[in-house]
Amino acid sequence: MSKQMILVMDFGGQYNQLIARRVRECNVYCEVVPYNISVEKIKEIAPTGIIFTGGPDIVNEEGAILCDKEIFELGIPIFGICYGAQVTTYLLGGDVERIPTREYGKTEITFDTDSLLFKGVEKESICWMSHSSQITKLPEGFKGIAETKNCPFAAIECEEKKMYGVQFHPEVLHTTEGTKMISNFLFNVCKCNGDWKMASFVDTTIEELKNKIGDGKVLCALSGGVDSSVAAVLLSKAVGKQLTCVFVDHGLLRKNEADEVEAVFGPQGDYDLNFIRIDARQRFYNKLKGVEEPETKRKIIGEEFIRVFEEAANEIGEVDYLVQGTIYPDVIESGLGKSDVIKSHHNVGGLPDCVNFKEIVEPLRLLFKDEVRRAGKELGLPDSLVYRQPFPGPGLAIRIIGEVTEDKVKLVQDADYIFRDEIAKAGLDKEINQYFAALTNMRSVGCMGDSRTYDYAIALRAVTTTDFMTAEAARIPHEILEKVMNRIINEVKGINRVMYDYTSKPPATIEFE
Ligand code: XMP
Repeated sequence: MSKQMILVMDFGGQYNQLIARRVRECNVYCEVVPYNISVEKIKEIAPTGIIFTGGPDIVNEEGAILCDKEIFELGIPIFGICYGAQVTTYLLGGDVERIPTREYGKTEITFDTDSLLFKGVEKESICWMSHSSQITKLPEGFKGIAETKNCPFAAIECEEKKMYGVQFHPEVLHTTEGTKMISNFLFNVCKCNGDWKMASFVDTTIEELKNKIGDGKVLCALSGGVDSSVAAVLLSKAVGKQLTCVFVDHGLLRKNEADEVEAVFGPQGDYDLNFIRIDARQRFYNKLKGVEEPETKRKIIGEEFIRVFEEAANEIGEVDYLVQGTIYPDVIESGLGKSDVIKSHHNVGGLPDCVNFKEIVEPLRLLFKDEVRRAGKELGLPDSLVYRQPFPGPGLAIRIIGEVTEDKVKLVQDADYIFRDEIAKAGLDKEINQYFAALTNMRSVGCMGDSRTYDYAIALRAVTTTDFMTAEAARIPHEILEKVMNRIINEVKGINRVMYDYTSKPPATIEFE
């Protein structure tokens, strides 16, 4: 396994994990640490290179965060990005000043392509700027290696000391050749060998979990989604039977889903862990009887889920660790670098408060979704779990408009199954980000054979989106929609009308409730 490591020192910028991600994409291992890491600690880690991130401060103004100046004496290559470049400049005796108007967005830039940092990069290009102060005087031994109309030192270097700084953000894709620059720093300056792979993340994490947990007891609420599944497998590989996974079947899962989860994690599956499947279907249906209001449904399901989980956890007794499948986009940063505090969003609302445990473990908290999927593949999880599309905690209850009943769950499960099957057969499953069937509360007249029907209408929903905050209705070819419609009408008794929802988000949401 690679011993090389890049240290990303976090000064509170919003793109910091993106920097880490770009480094990992170059097959170089990296870790994000707070800006105030001690020099002793850095010496102990002995990184191959250091990257200073951006941040919101102005270096020479009161309260600005700075790193230990001794870092520049260690002989380790340093790449400062935005605020990181200004920290380098300021601490080494150069000047940084506020600019009258903030420079923001795509900006034309000219590079000195003789620099190792810009080797192979187009001389005239586009970078992404976001700064309200800039370097006005270089430290001794440095020279400018890029300029924009308003920024004379858009990039700086001291080749002898292997120190580089850029005012723009190479980690953001709007900087046309940003990834190339990061790769140049890693390979031309730091001489990394690029032999790190997701397998190394998996191995290292398993090793770390082993050391941390020792003979402790671990509890995991397994939902069957990719995040909690990957987290559970990592833990099971680290501590085996010390891990108990509790999987609550609330009766609002997709068709066959509960069995699929059990097939992977249960006694017949590949992993050596304690798997508890709780059949709480009737319990949830009873609680939801007569309830029509969407928010009330969510609240009931959330509370009932906690109660069921709590009962299971109490039977297990006190545990040392609770596993959460938190991934990076779930992590709400409250200035990791600045305050050393990071709050996490809990996937299952309120869970940690109701179970006795000493500590939460979140092995995926630094990964993006696609990286979690890669880790899942490394760990041998089936594609059906690794590429599972997002599925809401309250499940099908928010895809059934109005009261939820067991019969309606069956209708929506069957229609949804057909829709997913046809989308997969058409090879559209990786293109469309979320797609499902929802049961409208509308019944209408139809005729099948020679008889009149008075049945439900199913709505099909499929969206393309990058962040799920906004979304477009997917343009599914009519032939495929027609096939889905035909199959649903013929195979799902109780449905006589199929509609395709063409609304974007906003104004609609992705889910129906
Ligand atoms: P909306 O409907 O708000 O959905 O446009 C955006 C994304 O969030 C998912 N979603 C949920 N996920 N619990 C969850 O875990 C929920 O209550 C919930 N509501 C919506 C939805 O599936 C979509 O991916």
